[in-house]
Amino acid sequence: MSRRKIAAGNWKLNLSFEEAMQLAKSIADEEIPEGVEVVLAAPFPYLKSLRDLTMSIDKLHIAAQNCSEHAKGAYTGEVSVAMLDSIQITHVLVGHSERREYFEDTSEVLSKKLERAFENGLVPIYCCGEPLAIRKDGTHVAFVKKQLEETIFKLERENFSKLILAYEPIWAIGTGETASPEQAQEMHAAIRSVIADKYDTALAESIPILYGGSVKPANAKEIFSQSDVDGGLVGGASLKAESFSEIIKSF
Ligand code: PGA
Repeated sequence: MSRRKIAAGNWKLNLSFEEAMQLAKSIADEEIPEGVEVVLAAPFPYLKSLRDLTMSIDKLHIAAQNCSEHAKGAYTGEVSVAMLDSIQITHVLVGHSERREYFEDTSEVLSKKLERAFENGLVPIYCCGEPLAIRKDGTHVAFVKKQLEETIFKLERENFSKLILAYEPIWAIGTGETASPEQAQEMHAAIRSVIADKYDTALAESIPILYGGSVKPANAKEIFSQSDVDGGLVGGASLKAESFSEIIKSF
């Protein structure tokens, strides 16, 4: 079955406003291949301007990198999904390993964030992935399955069908060490199989699953050509227009 192909850039805590706008302009000027969608996950203060800049391009979405698990109220410093929705932001990263590790995004918190996203009609890009010790143990599939069970497997089928998943082995994030295409394919197929067991095959076959972890122009083509890999969530290589454009053209 042909699934949507997605190249998502995760800018993390990088770029000045000017640099971000320039980068988005360059990406917006590029021809996005047929059947491919591009997502730019940007810092909160830039989202509205980026949205305005790219509004007319259907295949280019702006995402927040995080959101509050709370709907509203006395939570100083937080940004709610309703606020994101009110500036027409359509996507939000949920469960990035850096959020899990440094900001106590536990499964309970992530479940609430998913709930907030669906209440407001945003598409969550849900991230999962194992640390190095688990990979070395050979228990990576069970580890990721547990991450899914504690969060997205609690969703109703209808909400689940709107998700984008990203498998990001922590040992490959920002390290220059990429999972081999075979390692990515193995995990993506395993994720699809547990979705089929929990829900059904049609749903499992329809969900885009992105690979993340040191994706760059030199390896994108081979990784994206794996049958269960539907694109990438790209950190470092998404910060330069040239390299991200090349990745977008790697499908
Ligand atoms: P990286 O980051 O491409 O720099 O490894 C990926 C991510 O964290 O989403």
